[in-house]
Amino acid sequence: MSQRSCLSIILAAGEGTRMKSAVPKVLHTIAGLPMVAHVVKAAEAAGSSELALVIGHGADEMRKAALKFAPKAEAFVQEKRLGTAHAVLAARAAISKGYDDILVMFGDTPLIDPEALAAARLKLAERAAVVVVGFRAKNPSGYGRLIEKAGKLVAIREEKDCSDEEKKITFCNGGLMAVAGRHALKLLDQVGSKNAKGEYYLTDIVEIAAAQGLDVVATEASFENALGINNRAELAQAEGIWQQRRRREAMLSGVTLIAPETVFFSHDTEIGADTVVEPNVWFGPGVKIATGAKIHAFSHIEGATIASNCDVGPFARLRPGADLRTKAKVGNFCEVKQAIVEEGAKVNHLTYIGDARIGAGANIGAGTITCNYDGYSKFFTDIGEGAFIGSNSSLVAPVSIGKGGYIASGSVITESVPDDALAFGRARQRTLPGKGKELRERFSQAAAARKKG
Ligand code: UD1
Ligand code: MG
Repeated sequence: MSQRSCLSIILAAGEGTRMKSAVPKVLHTIAGLPMVAHVVKAAEAAGSSELALVIGHGADEMRKAALKFAPKAEAFVQEKRLGTAHAVLAARAAISKGYDDILVMFGDTPLIDPEALAAARLKLAERAAVVVVGFRAKNPSGYGRLIEKAGKLVAIREEKDCSDEEKKITFCNGGLMAVAGRHALKLLDQVGSKNAKGEYYLTDIVEIAAAQGLDVVATEASFENALGINNRAELAQAEGIWQQRRRREAMLSGVTLIAPETVFFSHDTEIGADTVVEPNVWFGPGVKIATGAKIHAFSHIEGATIASNCDVGPFARLRPGADLRTKAKVGNFCEVKQAIVEEGAKVNHLTYIGDARIGAGANIGAGTITCNYDGYSKFFTDIGEGAFIGSNSSLVAPVSIGKGGYIASGSVITESVPDDALAFGRARQRTLPGKGKELRERFSQAAAARKKG
């Protein structure tokens, strides 16, 4: 089948007003990726080599966004929303190039399973002219019904055009369709708009093809393949299903999730076997975790690389560019941004590390802050191998601490410290015997005098 050329047409010209949003509907995200990009991924996974994106409302924004998730896709604008067949024909120029298989998908149906697409393509390879991917609906209301005669699909009837008898059918059109390229334009050009909505229905090609004796087939897939998103409640439902799938996949690949329903992955999270993720962990985009790491509860991680056997959290925040090497530790209430924490280094408590390198085995005391920003520019802090930074120190960048350097607690370090040096950057302590008592007496007498007066 892989030799067969395939064009995927993704319809995304819907109005989407029910999202109550300034953002086009299909750019709303699931697992951090626009829903239409999920559809693109499914099309690619099913072996589709060319992509046509049919857009309407927010065309410029869509084009710009598509550059990221589908740089090779050709965009076609459907000026007027006259129905799904009309939308497919907006991509006439692409269809005319001549493909073996043409897949039609909806941009607002993000949980499409590539296997359902591949199964439909297989039917085309077996000489079907039109393949409809159907599903069994618990509540079929709103969906087109698959009308079969003698076990053969002969038409799809939209809800509004159904007889009472037809409305009882629960085998429904999920919206995915595969059409043999050699028949596509001929069939589409015959679609009219004589129906309850006065639209050009893509679904009408089923009846047209069947009447001409062409082979029309219905396949069956799960309900998720038909889950169209029209509002934010449905968006959250799709997110939930996606997360559930991903958690299961992670666990089956050897990752321990103690409370899976509380862990949220991004579309691109990579996580190795024997990593343990405690409850309530959030992964934003761009996270790569090797094997055997421990991610403790309530950590928020994005754009970070975590090597094997690292220990993160609880309550850690790793921001983009955090790069933890083998066995590094970043503990509670620590934030790390754009910084390398080399092998075995420890950043254990209440610390901010930004724009920095922390050498292997270094120990960063509680409350240490790299002062990386002067309000205008960012500066770098370099901490050498085996250095010890005493608690509550401020390292004012640009600054470097040499290998084995030792910083006294509470220091404000503004000048670089050479290897193995000890640096104090704080006022010396003075202790005055008996002065505490004397002060207390003075203050209490003054307070009593004020009360009287
Ligand atoms: C469509 C199917 C129906 C199926 C259901 C599954 C048709 C005629 N009906 O109905 O059989 O059960 O999906 O969810 O195909 N679009 C455009 N331009 C248009 C019209 C639609 O781009 O002129 C896009 C929409 O953005 C959307 C998709 O096509 O992504 C489907 O359109 P929609 O109006 O939601 O069709 P349904 O009535 O849900
Ligand atoms: Mg719909």
